[in-house]
Amino acid sequence: MPTPAPYDAIILGAGASGLFCAQRAAGRGLRVAVIDHADKPARKVRISGGGMGNFTNLHASSANYLCANPHFVKSALARLSPWDVIDFLTRLGVTYEEREHGQLFTLTGAGHLAGILVDRCRKLGAYLLTGRKIESVDGPGPFRVVAGGESLEAAALVLALGGPSWPQAGATDLGFRLARRFGLALVNPRPGLVPMTLGPADRERFAPLAGNALPVTIECGPVRFTDPLLFTHRGISGPAVLQISSYWREGEPVTIDFLPQGRVADLMEGNRSSSMLLRTLLGRALPKRLVQTLLPEALASAEVRRLDRRQVEEAAGLVHGLTITPSGTEGYAKAEVTVGGVDTANISSKTFACANVPGLHVIGETLDVTGHLGGFNLHWAFASAAACADAL
Ligand code: FDA
Repeated sequence: MPTPAPYDAIILGAGASGLFCAQRAAGRGLRVAVIDHADKPARKVRISGGGMGNFTNLHASSANYLCANPHFVKSALARLSPWDVIDFLTRLGVTYEEREHGQLFTLTGAGHLAGILVDRCRKLGAYLLTGRKIESVDGPGPFRVVAGGESLEAAALVLALGGPSWPQAGATDLGFRLARRFGLALVNPRPGLVPMTLGPADRERFAPLAGNALPVTIECGPVRFTDPLLFTHRGISGPAVLQISSYWREGEPVTIDFLPQGRVADLMEGNRSSSMLLRTLLGRALPKRLVQTLLPEALASAEVRRLDRRQVEEAAGLVHGLTITPSGTEGYAKAEVTVGGVDTANISSKTFACANVPGLHVIGETLDVTGHLGGFNLHWAFASAAACADAL
């Protein structure tokens, strides 16, 4: 049975942040309605972590987030730690495992995680309206939302509509459009955690490597990540590339070290007098096809004992510092997140309320806050939602 109107808060978006906010606010005794156009709520949660939901990260700190104001995330992260999320979810039956870099994945599946959030909302009396087109939003004083022919009213409105990345899961830019209508500024949105494409020459050069993955260090300006890179038919992907893509701007080069755990010079050192070909020596540490692609034929087929210092430096430079300029990214269709969004300048980092619009709150990915790969985005959705719910 729906909670009788009027509501204390209407939450637009039944994704990770909207559902977490709704259950927490309903748990405080507030009358809450959550509206989503999708028939099935939390579709991105259901596909997260390859279906296993990388729901938080033990190392979550402000260093893992991009935001025009790097301090903005600190308060919410301090109030909802990874251990708070673990405690909340394990009490509700989620079991989990820790993978590398502190990433926590469910063992019970991302669908179970989404189901738990929905069940908890319903159990605590939040009114969940799914499969409803949002027809109009007016306010404040009070806010009035018409969705699927039903009209709702509340003193508070929470924008939890995510960003436009991965539209195949129901994502749209409605959060940004509504924010603009309420007079909020946007930090230019762009796809993040997204594969990168290469121009025709580089694409042809690396085409034979499609499907190959290896650990690299990738750099863009002052930012660097060490993680696996995957060559694709259109360019480069894998965790290292997804991470750097959130920092990359059109036209900028990226530099790749294909042997981050060793040095070409050290490999040579132990084989100075060897008659082995350089390609054979490097092929012990790198995929043979990559060696072939990176090194000119004359250098690759030289005997190691005959290499002079300049040639050793040339080989080291190509292996440790290949610089390429991606032609672009695969766009929102393949982007796990949206970088940019509602400017945090006029949003309280403690309550997520907008300074200029009484009762309006913005949480989750709709804000100009983007986490690194590894559970940081769901953690942000939960942390921002918790702080907002406690302030409603
Ligand atoms: P979220 O997108 O979850 O929710 C927004 C809600 O608003 C949706 O339910 C949507 O239907 C609704 N909505 C949108 N437009 C609407 C409209 N016009 N009308 C009505 N409703 C509308 N993160 C992580 O930490 N660990 C992981 O493992 C992954 N894995 C992952 C995989 C893939 C494939 C993707 C695309 C993304 C991830 N992420 C992730 C990112 C993570 O899913 C994302 O950051 C959070 O879900 C964001 O939570 P929000 O609540 O802000 O938006």
